[in-house]
Amino acid sequence: MTKCILITGGAGFIGSHVVNLFVNKYPDYKIINLDALTYAGNLENLRDVENNNNYQFVKANILESEDLRQIFEQYQITDVIHLAAESHVDRSIHSPLDFVYTNIVGTVNLLNTAKQLWNKEEDHLFYHVSTDEVFGSLGETGYFTETTPYDPRSPYSASKASSDHFVRAYHETYGIPTIISNCSNNYGPNHFPEKLIPLFINNIIHQKPLPVYGDGNYTRDWLFVKDHAVAIDLIFHKGQRGSTYNIGGFNEWKNIDLVKLLCRLMDQKLGRQAGQSENLITYVKDRPGHDKRYAIDASKLNKELGWKPSVTFEEGLSATIDWYLNNTEWLKNVTTGNYQHYYETMYQNR
Ligand code: NAD
Ligand code: TYD
Repeated sequence: MTKCILITGGAGFIGSHVVNLFVNKYPDYKIINLDALTYAGNLENLRDVENNNNYQFVKANILESEDLRQIFEQYQITDVIHLAAESHVDRSIHSPLDFVYTNIVGTVNLLNTAKQLWNKEEDHLFYHVSTDEVFGSLGETGYFTETTPYDPRSPYSASKASSDHFVRAYHETYGIPTIISNCSNNYGPNHFPEKLIPLFINNIIHQKPLPVYGDGNYTRDWLFVKDHAVAIDLIFHKGQRGSTYNIGGFNEWKNIDLVKLLCRLMDQKLGRQAGQSENLITYVKDRPGHDKRYAIDASKLNKELGWKPSVTFEEGLSATIDWYLNNTEWLKNVTTGNYQHYYETMYQNR
C-alpha cells in the first residue's frame, strides 16, 4: 500500500522541517500537510515543496472532527505524524484552555478518526510528537529517560502529558499502532520569534532589550531542528509500535551562557563592537513555575536506531543566525500585519 501521510502542524516550526524532509526524500509517498495556520503557522515555510506532486496543503483545524473524517477518507490516510499544537509555555500560562482544546481535544479527535477509519489488518502508524517537558524539572544532575515518571508543571506540559497519555491509552485499549517521541528544546530556521533563541536574535538585530527571566540560571538541552526531523524520519520508519523514544541534543546550556554566546556571535556577524549586544541583557521577573533544568538521555534512540545529532551547537546556532539575517523579510512578515497582535501580546503577558 502506498503511504499517504497526514502531517499535522506542518506549517509550523518543526512540522515544516518534517514536511520538507519527507516530501523530498520520499517521492513515492503522498504528504498531506494539515494546518489551521494559527499565528505560528506560515506557508512561507513550505515554499520549496509547495509545487511538488507528492505534496498537498489542507487548511483545517484538528478540533473539527467531521473535517478530519472527510480528509482521512478523501486522501485515504495511512499514517499520521502529529505535530499540531499550541507550543509556547508563556502563552499557556496566560491562556491554558487554548492548550487544553488544541493539544488534548485535538489529539483525541485525531485518534478517534484513526480508530474509526483504520482497518486493523492494514499497516498504519499514529506518530505523536511530544516534548521532554512532560517529565517536569530536574535538579543539578540526572537525565530524563523513557521511564521517567510524568510530572508536568506548566499548562503547556500538562496538556502535552495528557495527550501522550491518550495516545498510549488508544494503543492499549483500541490497538491503534502508535509511537511517541519526547524531544528537548529545538532551535533553527522557521522558528516564530516568541521562544528564547529566535526572539533574542530578532531583538539583537533591532537592538531591543533581551528579557532574561529570573537569574538566567535555568538549563535547557538544545537540538538543531533538522536533527529532530531526521530522528522523526528514523523513528517513523524503524521505531517499535507502542513504544516511546527520547530525543535530545546532549547539549545543555544555562540560559545566560547561551544568551552571551548568541550576543558574541551576532556582534561578529553584524560587524558590531564586541560586547555591544550583551549590554541589551535585561533581567526581568521570572516565569511562574519555571522549570529549572531539562536534560534528555537519548541513548535508547542512539543504541536502537543509530541516531545522533549531526551538528554541534556552535554550528547549528551559527547557521540559525545566518538564516535569520538572510530572511529579514520572513521575520518582518511574522511580526507585523496579522501577526503583530500575537507578537505584541507575548510581551503583554509578562
Ligand atoms: P509551532 O507552534 O511552531 O507550530 C504549531 C503548528 O500547529 C502551527 O503551524 C499551527 O498553525 C498549527 N496548529 C495549531 N493549532 C492547530 C489546530 N487546532 N489545528 C491544526 N493546526 C494547528 O510548534 P513547534 O515548535 O513546531 O512544535 C511542534 C510540535 O513539537 C508540538 O507538538 C510541540 O509540542 C512539539 N515539540 C516542540 C519542541 C520545541 O522546542 N519547539 C520540542 C519538543 C516537542
Ligand atoms: P522557551 O524558548 O520559551 O522554551 P521552553 O520554556 O519551552 O523551554 O524558553 C527557553 C528558556 O529561556 C526558558 O528557561 C525560559 C527562558 N526565557 C527567557 O529567559 N526569556 C524569554 O524571553 C523567553 C521567551 C524564555
